[in-house]
Amino acid sequence: MKNVYVAILGAGFALALPDIAAAQDATLIAKGKQLFEDKKLSGAGETSCATCHPNNGHTDNKNYVGLNIVPDGQADGRSTPTLWGAGSRSVYAWAGTAPKLDGNIRGIIVNRMKGAEPSPETLGALVAYVSSLKPPMSGQVDENGAPTDTAPDAVKRGFDLFTGDGECATCHVLPTLDKAETEDMELGGKFKVPALWAVSQTAPYLHDGRTKTLPEAVKTMWEAQKKKAGNPGSPSAAQVADLVAYLNAL
Ligand code: HEC
Ligand code: HEC
Repeated sequence: MKNVYVAILGAGFALALPDIAAAQDATLIAKGKQLFEDKKLSGAGETSCATCHPNNGHTDNKNYVGLNIVPDGQADGRSTPTLWGAGSRSVYAWAGTAPKLDGNIRGIIVNRMKGAEPSPETLGALVAYVSSLKPPMSGQVDENGAPTDTAPDAVKRGFDLFTGDGECATCHVLPTLDKAETEDMELGGKFKVPALWAVSQTAPYLHDGRTKTLPEAVKTMWEAQKKKAGNPGSPSAAQVADLVAYLNAL
């Protein structure tokens, strides 16, 4: 009888501890969401994180220098990335200079938003909230970025090109579809390899937003990679269409 009691007690603890941890996480995430929408984080009190990353941390699809919106393709402008999936990037910021999420967010508050130095609690809550933003899954690829059995043929062909002849996955490494090292694709400097989850919704593309559509971005990347590999060439229209079908499924 005693052993049964101990076993039940043990199971009770095993269940209770993750429940408490989950409740604490939920509280921290809710606090982070509040801060994310709080304009007081900025020096002038006019901008919150959600100003540029609206719709649950997604992107406003604009390019910025500091807090100013600039035209697509302006050399010093930076395209606003989505924060969906930003909990697990290999590196942060287009320049690839921020190895960790907390350091990156601190830099944004102090440098871009001209706000006061954030407390560790504020940073912790913002990290918890941003890390909770997962990209929605299309059902056409699994969590590792591979097509599911029921995915359309174009998605499967696109994946084969992505991991094969297109050489895309050498930099956009599965499952994060990014990597920690920056690369010079002769597009104006060395930049991080951006993750491609939810990429269909994050136009304009490339660090300065010079490319308005995904087919153009795919063609640009294909040509940049083939030139870099010493084998210049352009993709066929069918290859672009299949790669775009795959990227649209992410
Ligand atoms: C004025 C618009 C603006 C505001 C306000 C803003 N961001 Fe951003 N955010 C950007 C832009 C533009 C970039 C890309 C900058 C770069 O990499 O040089 C970026 C990049 C990021 C990244 C890096 C993502 C990646 O994949 O590398 C994170 C994380 C982030 N922002 C979170 C936040 C948080 C949290 C706040 C509020 C404290 C915030 N941002 C406020 C525009 C903004
Ligand atoms: C040698 C590394 C490398 C290879 C190979 C590569 N990429 Fe990229 N990719 C990058 C870098 C670096 C950037 C950012 C460049 C910039 O913004 O100037 C990028 C950006 C992109 C973007 C824009 C994403 C955004 O959010 O703006 C897309 C789309 C993309 N790549 C798709 C592909 C496809 C498709 C292939 C294969 C045909 C490919 N890439 C091959 C390094 C690579």
